[in-house]
Amino acid sequence: MRQGIKAFVFDAYGTLYDIGSVEQTVEAAFPGYGSLITAVWRMKQLEYTWLTSMMGKYEDFWVLTKRALDYTLRSLHLDATAHRVECIAAAYFHLRPYDDARHCLDGLIAHKRAILSNGSPAMLAELVKFSGFDQCFDRVLSVDTKQAFKPAPDAYALVGETFGVRPNEVVFVSSNGFDICGAKSFGFTVIRVARSGDRDKAMRRRVDERALFDLLRGRAETLNYTADLTVRSLAEIPHIFESPGA
Ligand code: 2OP
Repeated sequence: MRQGIKAFVFDAYGTLYDIGSVEQTVEAAFPGYGSLITAVWRMKQLEYTWLTSMMGKYEDFWVLTKRALDYTLRSLHLDATAHRVECIAAAYFHLRPYDDARHCLDGLIAHKRAILSNGSPAMLAELVKFSGFDQCFDRVLSVDTKQAFKPAPDAYALVGETFGVRPNEVVFVSSNGFDICGAKSFGFTVIRVARSGDRDKAMRRRVDERALFDLLRGRAETLNYTADLTVRSLAEIPHIFESPGA
């Protein structure tokens, strides 16, 4: 797996950055609903990327993030003005990075490092700056330039167009099952970081919303495109690729 790798490309939301960190903002706005809204909001946000892509009616991730929150609040009969929706949705600009992210990125400093994300350019620029990761990437790539969300091949093609590398020269890292399938089917070497769902806790029959999210989105998909490797922490990745005797 280590030969000929020229670029390490990371998914952002759910992989480098913890989506769960919006829960505090949501809970403050709607006490008692924090985890439910956070889970439904995230699922609807992703569903809208697929719907708009398949309909050929692209809108950027910031617009869809607000639309998904609006849907979630309405479905729970929680009223919110467009302004309030925007204020709460802005929590996506300041997500907390996972603890293992910086160690991994620093360990790969000898390689080309990039983000490839559904996020809009403005969302990603603020997210990377706010987290202090602006020096960690050679490029921050938003699918917005292709007007097509992952797992559309056009989205992954951005990497080769940017770095002049072939798919088999790229390691792509994601925690999102759909993204793992898309990247693998495109031809990348794929590392899945098991952020949730794989924990071997016995799943109770009745699940809360966090567990529901894990059930629906936390496991490897059963399509024919599986990751080449699964890690439990991003920090494991540099050691896999350090040259022998380094
Ligand atoms: C991202 O594109 C998949 O939403 C995730 O960063």
